[in-house]
Amino acid sequence: MRMRGRRLLPIILSLLLIVLLSLCYFSGHLRESRESPVDQFLLHLPPEAEEEPPNPNPQPKPANPLLNLTDFQYLLASNVCRKAERELLAILIVTSYAGHDALRSAHRQAIPQSKLAEMGLQRVFLLAALPARERFISQEQLASEQQRFGDLVQGNFIEDYRNLSYKHVMGLKWASQECRNHAKFIIKLDDDIIYDIFHLRRYLEALEVGQPGLATSSTLLSGYVLDAKPPIRLLANKWYVSKKEYPHALYPAYLSGWMYVTNVPTAERIAAEAERASFFWIDDTWLTGVVRTRLGIPLERHNDWFSANAEFIDCCVRDLKQHSYECEYSVGPNGGDDRLLVEFLHNVEKCYFDECVKRPAGKSLKETCVAAVKSRAPEHGLAEVKPLRLR
Ligand SMILES: *[C@@H]1O[C@H](CO)[C@@H](O)[C@H](O)[C@H]1NC(C)=O
Ligand SMILES: *[C@@H]1O[C@H](CO)[C@@H](O)[C@H](O)[C@H]1NC(C)=O
Repeated sequence: MRMRGRRLLPIILSLLLIVLLSLCYFSGHLRESRESPVDQFLLHLPPEAEEEPPNPNPQPKPANPLLNLTDFQYLLASNVCRKAERELLAILIVTSYAGHDALRSAHRQAIPQSKLAEMGLQRVFLLAALPARERFISQEQLASEQQRFGDLVQGNFIEDYRNLSYKHVMGLKWASQECRNHAKFIIKLDDDIIYDIFHLRRYLEALEVGQPGLATSSTLLSGYVLDAKPPIRLLANKWYVSKKEYPHALYPAYLSGWMYVTNVPTAERIAAEAERASFFWIDDTWLTGVVRTRLGIPLERHNDWFSANAEFIDCCVRDLKQHSYECEYSVGPNGGDDRLLVEFLHNVEKCYFDECVKRPAGKSLKETCVAAVKSRAPEHGLAEVKPLRLR
């Protein structure tokens, strides 16, 4: 017993010492934290500086302004580009009213993400925040749509046709930041547009081979060119533009926002130059017209791909089903029919397996579809139909 006690004594003593030392240490801290608010105020000026040691790796502030929206944030963000296993041929950025969930669902049904991925493509929808008046969809529903598909990019500005320029710049910035080194091309689309993705893919593949300089340049803008249109100066028109908003008699040539093709270097320059240019709310006119002109970027004209008639696309679907006739057009409006894109893409694909035939002479769409045609010629239609897209 005595022997054991003698061996334990130094251990007990050192334990006591440790306890004593810790008591001193913690009481010091306790005293510090019990200082009155006044003491704290006097001793630690400013208090935050003491509590938050400088972060060697500061997180980017959520404030990453979008044009003059200093409090811009993404409400929903997608990583479809970063997570792609190999470099994508293109990322599709589709301007979509947040409430158009049924229309987005038609896009996904027409060509699902898995199939896009097989083709070297990915797609996101560009949304803004739901306006207070929106009754049919909630932010929770959008969050669950995002959970399911991960293809939404939503900014915190409010949905409005007068806010489309914000949305468009958001899309170009998002694609150039998220898809740099991940996607060769950017295809900008509206959600109510029919587009032949198989045709666009062929075009991009040919562009890479045939014009590699243009494909990788910072001057790629390709689509439907609208030449020198005058602004609408009639007050009653939804698209009325005041002299203050746009003082000149004509717009510079610009690309229809229905569908155009660009790439990361070009999108980046346009988004950066937009920050320096004065804001204009008609998004395609501003970005691919006014802002583009400041950068001296020429436009690639592919007007023959486009039809302003939803009926023509409808007739195309009918003739593809019945006779496997190739469609003369690759892009057009859906005419308010959400299902038309599904029908069109499901029927046009066979033409890329050489299962279609050229339209016989005398059976052009203009001749065989004319009875159904209600809207005007494409030249007018592009300007006239477009305004209807957002109620
Ligand atoms: C941003 O600019 C637009 C157009 O000039 C203006 O109408 C709007 O009030 C500005 N917004 C902010 C947050 O400054
Ligand atoms: C555009 O978005 C801003 C920012 O959220 C908002 O304050 C403004 O009301 C919106 N504009 C319109 C015309 O709704």
